[in-house]
Amino acid sequence: MDSHGKEDLIEPTRHSVTYGSYLKVRELLSLQTPLTVPEQHDEVLFIIIHQVYELWFKQILHEAKKAAAAIDADNLMLFNRTAHRIQSIQTILTHQVGILETMTPSDFNTFRDRLNPASGFQSWQFRELEFYLGYKDAAYMKFHKNDPSAFAALETALAAPSVYDRFLRLLKRRGFAIPDDVISRTISDNYQANDQVCQEIVKIYKQSDKYYDLYSALEAMIDLDEGVLLWRQRHVAMVERMIGNRRGTGGSSGVSYLSKTLSKRFFPDIWDARNYIGDSEYGRK
Ligand code: HEM
Repeated sequence: MDSHGKEDLIEPTRHSVTYGSYLKVRELLSLQTPLTVPEQHDEVLFIIIHQVYELWFKQILHEAKKAAAAIDADNLMLFNRTAHRIQSIQTILTHQVGILETMTPSDFNTFRDRLNPASGFQSWQFRELEFYLGYKDAAYMKFHKNDPSAFAALETALAAPSVYDRFLRLLKRRGFAIPDDVISRTISDNYQANDQVCQEIVKIYKQSDKYYDLYSALEAMIDLDEGVLLWRQRHVAMVERMIGNRRGTGGSSGVSYLSKTLSKRFFPDIWDARNYIGDSEYGRK
């Protein structure tokens, strides 16, 4: 008779590590505390989905730090593998917006007022990721001024070279003509697209066989940038169907503000390089 492998099951002893103790499942399941009384059904979904996002943001930051160290160590193979993992997570982040979209605007309005003034603006991990990848805007720090540990994490990310800064240093080490003022720029300022850097990137694209590891790294970086962009697009579309053009709980103009963030790029020169790749004159800048 087919035992379905049951003879392999080992009963845990009183002292062994268990699924629940290792993963702290009980603690995890006690962390969803809706504010509505009586409890509104969809508030639990709203809490869980945000918590899941924050867990994935934590993992992405963990991976982004590894990816940055790989660039510093000239290990582009490791950088590419790590970026690929981040990209897989990003796909899930974008896709799971659809779960929230099963909630109607009227469902949302059964608890929205209770959230005020909490807002995605206060997601320090999201902002940390923006800073760490390469888009720095110190104006967002004000949303964290009452949260010392979040503020400190963001100050550290602002002061650290971004993934892009590190990549440009690597290009310089490899003999590419990256201008000195780009390398010695004030790290906490937002990076400004640079024509000379763009042309060095175009060289890599045009000789992809010769520079294969750099070429692959550039494509991995575009994947990451596009991954965040796709999330932003999906988020803003979901926000519009949920609250129309009303203001956000964080005080912004809502959809109008979020639409402006769609032009943010972590690696602007890699995008600009697209205008010069290929032999055709059509559509050239
Ligand atoms: C009903 C669902 C949601 C609505 C209506 C909504 C609405 C908004 C609005 C209006 C903003 C602009 C800031 C403000 O004025 O508050 C915003 C920002 C943001 N939201 Fe959401 N959101 C929703 C779900 C989510 C989820 C599930 C996440 C996942 C973490 C999220 C993350 C963020 C982040 C990170 C920002 C800052 C974006 C930036 O500044 O670029 N939101 N959201």
